[in-house]
Amino acid sequence: MKVLVAYMSKTGNTKKVAEAIYQELDGEKAILPVEQVVDTSGYDLTFLGFPVQRFGPDPKTVGLLRKHCQPGRDVALFITHAAPEEEPELGEWLDKFRAAASAANIVGVFDCQGQLAQGVKRMMLLLPVRRLRSMAKRDNSQGQPDAARLARARGFAREMQAKMRGEARG
Ligand SMILES: Cc1cc2nc3c(=O)[nH]c(=O)nc-3n(C[C@H](O)[C@H](O)[C@H](O)COP(=O)(O)O)c2cc1C
Repeated sequence: MKVLVAYMSKTGNTKKVAEAIYQELDGEKAILPVEQVVDTSGYDLTFLGFPVQRFGPDPKTVGLLRKHCQPGRDVALFITHAAPEEEPELGEWLDKFRAAASAANIVGVFDCQGQLAQGVKRMMLLLPVRRLRSMAKRDNSQGQPDAARLARARGFAREMQAKMRGEARG
């Protein structure tokens, strides 16, 4: 099985998750910033990772998801966000990533908290967007993704590969 892990990461959190997934995969594999990915058609499975920006994927992310999630492709999404995993709106945010990827077969979706960089937090506190200001004020994301979350990401990698092998057999 040939697997690609492609990610977008501005402050390093999604990259950490990408590397945890990549390390856990067996078989032929590659890892690349998503902007450097030209074509995913040579891979049996593509992991695509992005941060949440303003309650979902930003426009650039939507474009990249559409580009790499063509019909007939198998993709696994992984998303990081500064809000805790219990955030009530998180389901809606993740659904927006699913929607942008929906032309492909979405094998699974992983998400975890990733720390809000200090510069981003300062910027959020100044923005005229009440929800972002209140998120920055309530921020409890420092140190994320921690070891437990990265272990969960490795479990996700194993689960996705097992699922693909099962589908290939069945
Ligand atoms: C412009 C911007 C908007 C963001 N909006 C949200 C948001 O709506 N909800 C959230 O939970 N995190 C938000 N974040 C935080 C990031 O999703 C989080 O820190 C993520 O782990 C960053 O990943 P990265 O380090 O790979 O860039 C935002 C970050 C930026 C820069």
